[in-house]
Amino acid sequence: MEELSSQKTILSGIKPTGQLTIGNYIGAMKNFVKLQNDYETLYMVVDLHALTVPQEPKELRHKTLSIIAQYIAVGLDPEKNNLFIQSHVTGHTELAWILGCMTGLGDLSRMTQFKDKSAKPGANVNAGLYTYPILMASDILLYNADFVPVGEDQKQHVELTRDIAMRFNYRYSDTFTIPEPIIPKSGARIMDLQNPMSKMGKSDSGESGRIALIDEPSLVAKRIKSAVTDSGSEIKFSETDEKAGIRNLLTIYANLTEISIAEIELMYEGKGYGDFKKDLADIVVERLSPIKNRHDDLMKNKDYLEAVLKSGAESAQKKAWKMLSKVYRKVGLVQAVR
Ligand code: AMP
Ligand code: TRP
Repeated sequence: MEELSSQKTILSGIKPTGQLTIGNYIGAMKNFVKLQNDYETLYMVVDLHALTVPQEPKELRHKTLSIIAQYIAVGLDPEKNNLFIQSHVTGHTELAWILGCMTGLGDLSRMTQFKDKSAKPGANVNAGLYTYPILMASDILLYNADFVPVGEDQKQHVELTRDIAMRFNYRYSDTFTIPEPIIPKSGARIMDLQNPMSKMGKSDSGESGRIALIDEPSLVAKRIKSAVTDSGSEIKFSETDEKAGIRNLLTIYANLTEISIAEIELMYEGKGYGDFKKDLADIVVERLSPIKNRHDDLMKNKDYLEAVLKSGAESAQKKAWKMLSKVYRKVGLVQAVR
C-alpha cells in the first residue's frame, strides 16, 4: 500500500561517545532543526554504534540520555520529530545482518573512517568497528529515508548505503529508497581549536581543542580566546594551511550569525585577532548558554525524557517492522505466524 503522506523522510543519528561539540551542531544538528518543519523526521541516538569503542556502561547510559536532551535543547520539538534511541527499536541489527551478506569486504576496507581509526596506535580493531557502516546503512534504509543530514566525514558511509540499497533493489526488486546526504556548504568540518588541521571530534580531540554544547560559558569563552591562530593579524579567509586557525574561526562565526564571510572580513578590517576572538566568544556563549540551561533542566526531568523516548520508539518501531517483514519476505525467509 502507498504511504498516505507523500512527505519525504529525513533521518540522522549521533553516537553517544562523548560530549556533543559545536562541530556536531554546525555540521549536523543545525540542519536537523531547519528541516523539522517540512519533512517526516527521525533523529536517533545510535547507542549500538557507540559500542564499537569500549564504553563505561553507566557513562554510556548517561550520555545517551544527555544527547536526547540536547536534541530537544537545540530546538527539536518532540511533537514534530521522532526522537529515539537506536537500541529501543528491533530491526536495526536484523536488517544489518542481511545487508552484511551483500556487502564486500573490499567496500568496508575502503572506508576512510575505519582506516583512520584502526591505524591509531593501540586501536581496538574489533569486527564491529569494521562492519559499522553496514549498521548505519541499515539505520537509514529501515525507514526509507530520502535525505540524511550529516557532516563531511559521513559522506562516504552514505554513499556505501546507496550502493547497498541499489544492489538489493536490483537483486530483489525495488525495495529501498536511495538516500541522499545533505551536507552543509560551509561548516561541514569544524576543526580542532588547538590543532586546526584535524577535525574537532567528540572524543578524539584534545579537551582544549573542542567546545561542547554543554560546557560552562566561562570555559567556552576561554577556549575561543586561546584558539590557535597564525602570526599574522588580518581577519581573512584563506585556504592555506597557515591560515587554518582563523579560517575555522571565521567559519564558526559565519555559521552562528548567518553573516557571510566576506561581510565579516569587512567588519574586522583594521582590527586584530584579539577583537575578533572576543566577539566570537560572546557569539558562541550567547548561542550555547540557553542550550546548556535547557539541557540541564531536561536532565532533571527524566519522566519527560522517558515519555519522549517511548513515543519516539513506538512510532519508529511500526515503520521498522513494516520494512523488516518486507525485506524478510523478499529474500526468501518464511513468514512467522504471530
Ligand atoms: P559523530 O560525532 O561522529 O557521532 O557525528 C555526528 C554528526 O556530526 C555527523 O553527521 C558528523 O558528520 C557530524 N560532525 C561530527 N564532527 C563534526 C565536525 N567537527 N564538523 C562538522 N560536522 C561534524
Ligand atoms: N556513523 C555516524 C557518525 O559517526 C552516526 C550514524 C549512525 C548515522 N547511523 C546513522 C548518521 C544514520 C546518519 C544516519 O557520525
